[in-house]
Amino acid sequence: MEEIVLKTENKISKILIGEKIENLTHYLPTNKKIIILTDTNVLKHYRHKLPPYPIIEIGTGEGIKNLSTIDYIMGQLIRHEADRSSYLVGIGGGIVCDIAGFAASIYMRGIRFGFVSTTLLSQVDASVGGKNGVNYEGYKNMVGVFNQPDFVICDTSMLTTLPREEYIGGYAEIIKHGCIRSHELFEFLENNVSRALAYDSHVIEHCVAQSVRIKAAVVENDEREKGERRILNFGHTFAHAIEKITALPHGKAVSIGMNYASYISYQLGMISENDYRRIRELITRFQLPTNFDFEPNTLVDAMRKDKKREGDDIHLVLLEAIGNAIVKPVTYNQLKTFVHDLCKHQ
Ligand SMILES: NC(=O)c1ccc[n+]([C@@H]2O[C@H](COP(=O)([O-])OP(=O)(O)OC[C@H]3O[C@@H](n4cnc5c(N)ncnc54)[C@H](O)[C@@H]3O)[C@@H](O)[C@H]2O)c1
Ligand SMILES: [Zn+2]
Repeated sequence: MEEIVLKTENKISKILIGEKIENLTHYLPTNKKIIILTDTNVLKHYRHKLPPYPIIEIGTGEGIKNLSTIDYIMGQLIRHEADRSSYLVGIGGGIVCDIAGFAASIYMRGIRFGFVSTTLLSQVDASVGGKNGVNYEGYKNMVGVFNQPDFVICDTSMLTTLPREEYIGGYAEIIKHGCIRSHELFEFLENNVSRALAYDSHVIEHCVAQSVRIKAAVVENDEREKGERRILNFGHTFAHAIEKITALPHGKAVSIGMNYASYISYQLGMISENDYRRIRELITRFQLPTNFDFEPNTLVDAMRKDKKREGDDIHLVLLEAIGNAIVKPVTYNQLKTFVHDLCKHQ
């Protein structure tokens, strides 16, 4: 088991990689009311492993990540007579953790909370960094707070029950962490694709621990995303636009976005052709896509609406090397040329 400590302005959060859900009670206060928040799928697989605390069950899918669910949870907390000393444990993927952190932060002006993170994406990304919240009128994560959980248990053995596509999608974020901050993690992935795809626990734990370390270091420097934290958006400016115009899941959209951002980095002379090929190849070996069938202007228009747009430029996260990302303004005309090129390369 590895413990990584995340220190922010007013909180210390422990991320426990390789810890088991069976040990959850070791991290909870005694003599306080504990309440579990989880979703239907997690309950189906793991009800027998949960300690005997009251459970608030919510549904699944991005559609339930909204204020009506928060309203329901507030009602349930009152019904369970939760008070200011009560404790909320979110057990699930990114959706449950985002909702649990937000609900705990606003109930009676804030109660303490922790997570058991049960998807690869939430272990390497969503449950680390203290962003909690819900969607509003179709806008992603529009309402929420910054607040760190006391602990995050990343029980990697729970990943074996994940749908295969969810598991593989998590590797897109791990590849992202290698690209932006760690050549070593990138090489580790290159050398261990088949073991990762076969659920080798050592490989998974190494990938989760390295990803958490990278994300925690970035968040510690810039909790509220004023500067450096933006590099975590590598591939995501494209991905958000791709998700708007297709039904592709997040991991696949990020994979395509990382390929595009790497191609642009190569075209601008920032990385070598060989490094660009390595990135594209690694994504492909993880059975993730690097391109999709699209109309170039539709993609550029969708990107124009993205919130990271500033003036006549768009700020893209690009690579100066595998393991070193920077934020760089690119003009819309440049972007259009690159996107037309990429469209031809399908
Ligand atoms: N807060 C952040 O910094 C941050 C970062 C990235 C993503 N997110 C958010 O995370 C969400 C996506 O998270 P996700 O990909 O974990 O999706 P998710 O929470 O929807 O989980 C994916 C699916 O797997 C099921 N599931 C969860 N754990 C399981 C397990 N161990 N076995 C079997 N099934 C299981 C869930 O019920 C769900 O159907 C998005 O809403 C996104 O906005 C937040
Ligand atoms: Zn992402």
